[in-house]
Amino acid sequence: MGPPLDFDAEDVRHPMWSPSVRSLPIPGIRRMVNMASEMDDVIHLSIGQPDFSMPPHIVEAHIDALRAGHTRYTLDAGLPQLLEAVADYYGERHGRHLDPENVLITTGATEAMYLAIAATAAPGRQFLVPDPTFPLYAPLIRMNGAEVKAIPTRAEHGHQLDPQEVIDNIGMRTFGIILNSPSNPTGTVYPKETVEAIVQEAAYRGVYVYSDEVYDHLVLDEMEYASVLRCTSDLDHVMVISSLSKTFSMAGLRIGWLISSQGAIKKLRRFHIFTTTVANTPAQWAGVAALQGGRECVDEMLESYRKRRDRIVELVSNTPHLTSYRPQGAFYIFPSLPPNTDGTTVATRMLEETGVCVVPGDAFGETCPNSLRISYSASMEDIERAFERIIPWMAEQKF
Ligand SMILES: Cc1ncc(COP(=O)(O)O)c(C=O)c1O
Repeated sequence: MGPPLDFDAEDVRHPMWSPSVRSLPIPGIRRMVNMASEMDDVIHLSIGQPDFSMPPHIVEAHIDALRAGHTRYTLDAGLPQLLEAVADYYGERHGRHLDPENVLITTGATEAMYLAIAATAAPGRQFLVPDPTFPLYAPLIRMNGAEVKAIPTRAEHGHQLDPQEVIDNIGMRTFGIILNSPSNPTGTVYPKETVEAIVQEAAYRGVYVYSDEVYDHLVLDEMEYASVLRCTSDLDHVMVISSLSKTFSMAGLRIGWLISSQGAIKKLRRFHIFTTTVANTPAQWAGVAALQGGRECVDEMLESYRKRRDRIVELVSNTPHLTSYRPQGAFYIFPSLPPNTDGTTVATRMLEETGVCVVPGDAFGETCPNSLRISYSASMEDIERAFERIIPWMAEQKF
């Protein structure tokens, strides 16, 4: 764990900063992690990245790229070998043809989402965003003057998104719909019917779909993964974003991409030049090795996530006051506390009194202040130790 990040609320309100920077929230995850960093014997179930090492063949490819002198800028769209690898890999995975010109390599999925939203969000445009959701989209949308309309999901329904509710919320001002399956913070995986219904109605109504698929390989049950790339014949109304961070446990190498129509990629390439110029070159070579290497390393990680998921579902179900469900992907569960309970107070007191760090629901939106995000990107031993503390503590609480 690194040193705590300092966020001074007074500082960011200083008039020197632009209104968009002043509008950025202090990340709820940071608040908890900062607090935990000042305590001893903390068990973290708060982590948002894989706890596995990067597979050795990818490490070798990264080092080889440095030794071979691959340390200059690549083409702005990305290293040609990686553009081709992404197009081939995702084309084959989703049974469709993709050209390298449909791909833009970015500094993680974060840059891809930044480009997609900043290039299109504007005053008068509304985005439908599932709530709870990853706390990147709404601030970016608002920072660019557009409006967020939350579509709530609930633990009682496994946090599934109701496609009809999304469709019913498309109005005159709706410009975009954000999807994130498997979801952070809920671990929910949308079935094909949901994604297909939303993507098709959006195309018909001239609304764009922004699909964050960074957990696209972390699907823990036997089911076909419904990428937006499987649910549309053309790419004119979709931007599909993913990265190597979660699949190959290489978040620090910062390689992601955006897949869309060739026309959209051309525009976004220009924006990308003004943002980061190109993604890290040796890391792009590591990306080629990741996508062209065997799947065994991913399968091994999946096996561990699956065992942890099964156990954590049991443990959460055995915890008083928590409403559980069975998430099918990523490495999170987002149970709820009784209605009107303040999740931030509970998470803070739980950290102070048991030393277990989880993230309160209000870090992920407006409709779930009575929830907690529990990450199982932690060893089975830590998961067991954490719940040995959480269960008796919860049993003593009166909500
Ligand atoms: C849903 C989601 N999207 C995007 C990201 C960022 O991914 P990257 O490391 O590729 O920028 C994360 C990281 O936690 C995430 O959970």
